[in-house]
Amino acid sequence: MADPVTVVVIEIEDPVAIKAGVSIKPFPIVQALIDYQRLNRSRFHIPGHGGQMLCPVPGFFDETYAYDLTEVEGLDVLSEPNDCIRESQERAAQLFGVRESFYLVNGSSVGLQAALLSVLQPGDEVLLPRNVHRSVISGLILTGAKPIWMLPEWLADWGLWAEVCPEAVGSLLKAHPNIKALVVTSPTYEGIASDIKGLADVCHSHGVRLLVDEAHGSLWPFSEDLPRSACHQSCDFVVHSLHKSAGSLTQSAIAHLPNGSKIDPALFQQALNTLQTTSPSYLLLASLDATCAFWEASEASQPYLQELLKHVHWFRKEVSFRLTAFSLYEHPQRNLWDPSQLYFRSRYEGGEAWACRLESQSQIAFEKTDAFGTLYKAGIGLKRQDYECLLSALLRENEYYDKNSGNVPCEFPSSPITLFPQVVLSPREAFFAPGEAIPREQGVGRIAKETHVHCPPGIPVLIAGEMIQREHEAYLPESVLVVRA
Ligand SMILES: Cc1ncc(COP(=O)(O)O)c(C=O)c1O
Repeated sequence: MADPVTVVVIEIEDPVAIKAGVSIKPFPIVQALIDYQRLNRSRFHIPGHGGQMLCPVPGFFDETYAYDLTEVEGLDVLSEPNDCIRESQERAAQLFGVRESFYLVNGSSVGLQAALLSVLQPGDEVLLPRNVHRSVISGLILTGAKPIWMLPEWLADWGLWAEVCPEAVGSLLKAHPNIKALVVTSPTYEGIASDIKGLADVCHSHGVRLLVDEAHGSLWPFSEDLPRSACHQSCDFVVHSLHKSAGSLTQSAIAHLPNGSKIDPALFQQALNTLQTTSPSYLLLASLDATCAFWEASEASQPYLQELLKHVHWFRKEVSFRLTAFSLYEHPQRNLWDPSQLYFRSRYEGGEAWACRLESQSQIAFEKTDAFGTLYKAGIGLKRQDYECLLSALLRENEYYDKNSGNVPCEFPSSPITLFPQVVLSPREAFFAPGEAIPREQGVGRIAKETHVHCPPGIPVLIAGEMIQREHEAYLPESVLVVRA
């Protein structure tokens, strides 16, 4: 530790100033963070801690640089854990009720890619609902596996993907006997779950592995009032972005092999080791450790979860009584839906227009918005006051519509951006094929060499190896990379 006499006190002003008299004008990233923080927005977005440290280690993260370490003598090695990381991961596995847990320092993304590398060989087929996250496409490039696409249920009134039905999966597995794995996003970004037990039964009866992307469901294992976690529903792999909703630092996540998983833990560790950095940040690892300790200490963490659900239920009631121009999505089955995802549609406008007004005029930051609606993510770091601000801002919008909309409802797009894809090459073949950049207008009929994604939600619009169709044009940049003709 530094000698207290030599400590330099830095006061962040605008620009950053050091008391000793030297003034440092920050490069743009530090400045952008300072500016964002100063807006003092209600953060209805990821990370779920909302800017507050919830983990039980006061002071620890104030000394960021003192604890910024990697694999040195006295600490442990993430790729071959034998000491504190191993012990922490074992406690995490107990907490989540799984056979083995693995800490991830590159989000759920790296966990999904490692899971695909553990179960697929080049040329294998993998069944993928079209709303998978882009990291799964990277997994296809890494493994050389071929996607068999299916469309999950599409809720046209809301512009939302919904569940993946076990019956539809069963028919596809019969038609494609070479499928080795199914990846399911459950919950979707907007909180809709699939029947994981039903999917597991179908998959296992065909000898197929079931990998569940539960990135947005990190709180589910800790509450009876939220849907049942895939960790306890007979699947082979689950991943949680703890940073999205459980309170850990951005990028920190956890992968699980549940009890009964058919994935070999040694193989999964090997796959992870090919993808993760050899200099994992101990700040991220400590954040995972502290977050798991927080959820293990239920007397400390449960009040946060109960508060979250209380605020959400209050907010939903107020919305249903008081807002006429907006509707808030509700799923008919409580056991297949997370109510903390607040997805709104306005009768009169697509999501972007009104969400941006709320952000600039009322300092309400959203998680995701598009031509259909806007998602506000209720996190454990938010306070009653944040919900009141959101409600007041929506009430003002409601009034505005009453005066200005002329009661003419808006026309929404009728189909998902993602059409049923015309696959020509596998993502890996397209990735390694010679390419050329061409203007977007000349793209129709050509094979995409790169994957185009709107983030969030990170769901690909067009995937490497697919034929570009006229409907894609609106979503592509001016110049597109295609496979050379
Ligand atoms: C459904 C889904 N899966 C996986 C990921 C990747 O998670 P991470 O950002 O932790 O890598 C995301 C990211 O937004 C996601 O929305």
